[in-house]
Amino acid sequence: MSHSKAGIIARILNIHGVRTINKGLAIENSWNKAIAISTLVRAGIPTVPTKLLFSASAQHDGINYPIIVKPIHGSWGRLVSLAGSTEDLTMLLRHKAVGETYMRISMVQPFIGDGTDYRVFVIGEEAVASMVRRPSNDDWRSNVARGGVAQAVRLGDDAYEIAIKP
Ligand SMILES: Nc1ncnc2c1ncn2[C@@H]1O[C@H](COP(=O)(O)OP(=O)(O)OP(=O)(O)O)[C@@H](O)[C@H]1O
Ligand SMILES: [Mg+2]
Repeated sequence: MSHSKAGIIARILNIHGVRTINKGLAIENSWNKAIAISTLVRAGIPTVPTKLLFSASAQHDGINYPIIVKPIHGSWGRLVSLAGSTEDLTMLLRHKAVGETYMRISMVQPFIGDGTDYRVFVIGEEAVASMVRRPSNDDWRSNVARGGVAQAVRLGDDAYEIAIKP
């Protein structure tokens, strides 16, 4: 499954009047984490405060460490990094400068909690399932691909309200 291919194919189908389970625009907006976060902020949904740095020389004073640095595209925790100091961040930005264009844009966030991640699955306007992923002792990222442990979980009603909010 490729998000980018699915987004383009769904959009082309939508342009030609074919309905898809997820709209092409929704797939594209969620694939790009910077666009996804802006969309959530605009909708009044609580999000992690996020800065975007567009190059290795981007100004990054006034940041409280540790921080998370992640690309605008990606999954499985790939390229999601932890920076403990301004030196770490400078080095990460320099490494990214030699990568693919999308990798040169960095999202910077405060380190929230302990890496635990909650996911709610929504079909239409109904939250049908939810899970928690917790990091293992080997990695602070909770992705199953990084050794995280996933479990079904019942969340508070506020979590489901946020998940289904249009
Ligand atoms: N701001 C943060 N604070 C603490 N931990 C974080 C933060 N951002 C990411 N993480 C940890 O890193 C993991 C991977 O990050 P994230 O979910 O953003 O990317 P991904 O899983 O690669 O992509 P996606 O969730 O879009 O498929 C998270 O599950 C979480 O454990
Ligand atoms: Mg994730």
